[in-house]
Amino acid sequence: MLIYSIINQKGGTGKTTTAINLGAALNRRAKKVLLIDLDPQGNLSYSLGINEFQNSMAEVLLGECKISQILHSNEGLDIAPSDNSLADAELSLAVSGGQERALKTALADISDYDYVLIDCPPSLSTLTVNALLTSHKVIIPMQMEVLSIQGLDQIMNTINKVSTTFSVDLSIEGVLPVMVDQRRKLSQEVRDYILENYDLRIFDSMIRTNVKASEAPSFGRSVINYKPTSNSAVDYMRFGDEILELNA
Ligand SMILES: Nc1ncnc2c1ncn2[C@@H]1O[C@H](COP(=O)(O)OP(=O)(O)OP(=O)(O)O)[C@@H](O)[C@H]1O
Ligand SMILES: [Mg+2]
Repeated sequence: MLIYSIINQKGGTGKTTTAINLGAALNRRAKKVLLIDLDPQGNLSYSLGINEFQNSMAEVLLGECKISQILHSNEGLDIAPSDNSLADAELSLAVSGGQERALKTALADISDYDYVLIDCPPSLSTLTVNALLTSHKVIIPMQMEVLSIQGLDQIMNTINKVSTTFSVDLSIEGVLPVMVDQRRKLSQEVRDYILENYDLRIFDSMIRTNVKASEAPSFGRSVINYKPTSNSAVDYMRFGDEILELNA
């Protein structure tokens, strides 16, 4: 079982879209996938049509129920949902202190998945630290813009800090260029800058800007299910295959 965190503290960088569609792509390759919504915005849950639930990741992190008790299923994916009650849960965890391992503890009895993908909130908060401590590897979806580079140092510092403070073996699998506009030369320049200045893989796959990707959530579906022939669906399938190759 491989656990990935999808992180970027910047908002709107395609984390949720990547978690859902990487999950859908891996599932199409016969992998068993669990998606964990670890964002109080609950976008992943909502985007897969899960709007009504009694218990969620909030109760799981507070130790009030087991993750197996909150799972929903859609498109062959298992989903552990969240909503804004996760913000209160995070506050409780932060106040009581030493709760960085709450998620890891909660996942201890989960083993029957090939891949677990954790959709993180746009911050480097207690929730993100929980996700990092639980994960083997990290995927950073990023728009190839100059301003995105600023955040990269911060992400890498956080990851290094978490690995050393808690002595866990955490690595960055790579940066995934998302919402790529191939007509713009800038994305190639940003890519080159990152490769020259950071010890990071930029995935061969990239996800093109495509209106179908932004439509799919309103139908409660992945774009791979909603419009399999669209650019973004094709791109996410390719990314899924790249992830499988890296772990082969
Ligand atoms: N390839 C794409 N083409 C077009 N629109 C996209 C693409 N990927 C994501 N989007 C849209 O961009 C917006 C932000 O994407 P998403 O919600 O996945 O980002 P996020 O990083 O999870 O945001 P947040 O930081 O708020 O959690 C959404 O409206 C989404 O539908
Ligand atoms: Mg999101």
